[in-house]
Amino acid sequence: MDSIGVNEQTPREIVEELNKYIVGQDEAKRSVAIALRNRWRSRQLTGSMQDDVIPKNILMIGSTGVGKTEIARRLARLVKAPFIKVEATKFTEVGYVGRDVESIVRDLAETAVRMVRQQRMEDVQEKAKEMAEERILDVFVPEPKKSQNPLGRLFGNDEEDSSEEKKEEPKYQAGREWVRKRLKNGELEEELIEIDVEESSKPMVGMFSGSSLEGMGDNLQDMIGSLMPKRHKKRKVTVAAARKIFAQEEAAKLIDMDEVAEEAVRVAEKSGIVFLDEIDKVAVKGNTSGADVSREGVQRDILPIVEGSTVVTKYGPVKTDHVLFIAAGAFHTAKPSDLIPELQGRFPIRVELKSLRKEDFEKILTEPQNALLKQYKALLAVEGVELDFKESAISRIAELACDVNEQAEDIGARRLHTLLEKLIEDVSFDAPDMEDKNVTIDAAYVDEKLSDIAQNRDLSQYIL
Ligand SMILES: Nc1ncnc2c1ncn2[C@@H]1O[C@H](COP(=O)(O)OP(=O)(O)OP(=O)(O)O)[C@@H](O)[C@H]1O
Ligand SMILES: [Mg+2]
Repeated sequence: MDSIGVNEQTPREIVEELNKYIVGQDEAKRSVAIALRNRWRSRQLTGSMQDDVIPKNILMIGSTGVGKTEIARRLARLVKAPFIKVEATKFTEVGYVGRDVESIVRDLAETAVRMVRQQRMEDVQEKAKEMAEERILDVFVPEPKKSQNPLGRLFGNDEEDSSEEKKEEPKYQAGREWVRKRLKNGELEEELIEIDVEESSKPMVGMFSGSSLEGMGDNLQDMIGSLMPKRHKKRKVTVAAARKIFAQEEAAKLIDMDEVAEEAVRVAEKSGIVFLDEIDKVAVKGNTSGADVSREGVQRDILPIVEGSTVVTKYGPVKTDHVLFIAAGAFHTAKPSDLIPELQGRFPIRVELKSLRKEDFEKILTEPQNALLKQYKALLAVEGVELDFKESAISRIAELACDVNEQAEDIGARRLHTLLEKLIEDVSFDAPDMEDKNVTIDAAYVDEKLSDIAQNRDLSQYIL
């Protein structure tokens, strides 16, 4: 019944899924797959054993542009657990500008609530749809007017009115049945009707944003929002659209938000995953001064959350003991050992992502779902241009990417983006005016467009 947070996939299946998007980096894929599976395993345990098994956090190390963030992005779609990705650089010490680290947990809870709510909404879909149809019926065939004098009805002297109503009743029912039938047959979908829609009012967006009062600001906003009368607005929409709007509203009424919040907190605690990107940027090398102090402060702030603490969110207190943290960083200048020792110890699993080589580049260009070359092809196909990348071209592009990465700076697969942009520039510009819409790109074409720049070190530093 409750499928959130439990990923049934085996490690092998998870790796296979990741393989669709990420070339190589098998070690990193394996580690995250195992971590996910361990989540599932510990769920099968009982009692204090389940409490004591805490997830082993992962630290991914690899130079820039080799797929760290990409793995996180793909993982996020894969897992059925609340997942958030944050940049460690976003935080500074409490009281400085920037966000306080507890917002990580608040965001996680928020994500969990959204997931649980979504699931509950799906559960009541059918019912909500039926109720939506009733409301559409009300628009077509409004209920006959009730007695104008409620006091009179109360005291029983309403014979006149009720006889009036009794006459209306069968007509009303019959009309309703007739429209219902046509609605069911889908004959009225394009019909325009006027409906009342609720406008959610959020009056003071961002009142406290950017301060450590942020979380409280959210609460306040919600409170004020719920105190304000719901604004209604009349809109003319098709029946088909009204179905959607009403079904949403009805579904929202059918679910119990308190129960959702409770469940969401539980899911966030047991299955939440936080991806801490750019962790190396808050590591400090050697003696500390100035900005470094602040960076070390960030690490100290992060520590309790990674170690396990309780953060108050508007959905209730969330314990972070069982949240899985995956940190990643390039560690170009700082080393993992430059992190404060306590934090190092909280990331027992280290995986290294390899630098990408020519064969990897070739694969990245062509293999992943929506690989780069596929993207360019699709984009230009919109203009009727057919791009044909020959094997020789792919091999040449990959080679150039390696060369430039060696000469200038190693920016990994991002180099492919800059190279391709330059390579396709002319076609991109001319596409709408081209007479011959077939463009063949082979090694010679690549050389013509790129090799001068690639060979000129100074030039390539700026252009590629
Ligand atoms: N192994 C790979 N397979 C497929 N695509 C990749 C791979 N590595 C990188 N890319 C592509 O290169 C780009 C940059 O990768 P990503 O954002 O993952 O870098 P990163 O490792 O997080 O680098 P940084 O340390 O700078 O954050 C993305 O568009 C991604 O699709
Ligand atoms: Mg990254």
